[in-house]
Amino acid sequence: MKCRVCRGDALIEVRRQNANYCQDHFLRMCRDQVAKAIEEHDMIKPGERVLVAVSGGKDSLALWDLLRELGYEADGFCIGLGIGDYSKGSTDMTRAFAAQRGWPLEVLDLRDEHGFDVPTAAHVTRRVPCSACGTSKRHLFDDASRRGGYDVVATGHNLDDEAAVLFGNVLRWETEYLGRQLPVLPERAGFPRKVKPLVRLGERETAAYCVLRGIDYVVEECPMAEGNKHLGYKELLNSVEQESPGTKHAFYFGFLARASELFTADTMAEQGALGTCARCGAPSTGEICAFCRLAERTAGHEPVAFLPLKKRGR
Ligand code: AMP
Ligand code: FES
Ligand code: ZN
Ligand code: ZN
Repeated sequence: MKCRVCRGDALIEVRRQNANYCQDHFLRMCRDQVAKAIEEHDMIKPGERVLVAVSGGKDSLALWDLLRELGYEADGFCIGLGIGDYSKGSTDMTRAFAAQRGWPLEVLDLRDEHGFDVPTAAHVTRRVPCSACGTSKRHLFDDASRRGGYDVVATGHNLDDEAAVLFGNVLRWETEYLGRQLPVLPERAGFPRKVKPLVRLGERETAAYCVLRGIDYVVEECPMAEGNKHLGYKELLNSVEQESPGTKHAFYFGFLARASELFTADTMAEQGALGTCARCGAPSTGEICAFCRLAERTAGHEPVAFLPLKKRGR
């Protein structure tokens, strides 16, 4: 196996690109793909300050490292969601990564700051944990960005994530979500711009990137997401990709080039007029924003310990 660039011994194969790379050229390829995504989709302008949402997993740690390598002023923001040992491991890993490099990081604990955590919210609302988790993450990312005066929030969603979410949304023709499934969501009415600079890299590549750069990351996936539909869609797409490399890329980027615009009108109509949340001052369609409503229902409830599915006897 020879490196596509230097013809030296290759270390890794990227079947989607029908190419092999040595260590140096693999790392360079990852940087180039991120730089290309940022440029093609106008994600970040030179000199802008970036807040990176870091979970301690391979994608967001790779993203933080890549943005810094590309010369951006990128600081970290990590939320302790209260999902047992998983959350503790995630925040510890993120802290260690930032401390080793001396990069600024804010760690916010959901229970300490807002009086609830994801397992308790899921129990009280009787909804899937990812629902309270998503509402909290979105709100806290936006809020941290406003407080810190950042220009843009970056998350570690990769090609596998985006293709799986797109697949789910297409299966059910979720037109409102399809209109919002973009690598960049522009700034609007008090919400910061949101970008996904890893959309041109798969998760196998972000994992390899971390290993080759000596980045320690949390390997486990969120235990509350077990049985989640997106994980099933990822597996389905992986078997298609296995037979026909490049399908995920063609599916996702084909959607962006040929179809996504068809749905943006639906999304704009759904967004409606924005006011300000009476509790926290965040932009909101209702009088009280979704996060404050969640906090009101959930804070003060006896904490519900997170039990992995196995122990819940399912
Ligand atoms: P997920 O929704 O868990 O697939 O995560 C998608 C992205 O959201 C990650 O790549 C991170 O950028 C961000 N993220 C997830 N969990 C956290 C967390 N606890 N704190 C900060 N950012 C997070
Ligand atoms: Fe949100 Fe698992 S990380 S429910
Ligand atoms: Zn090479
Ligand atoms: Zn609010």
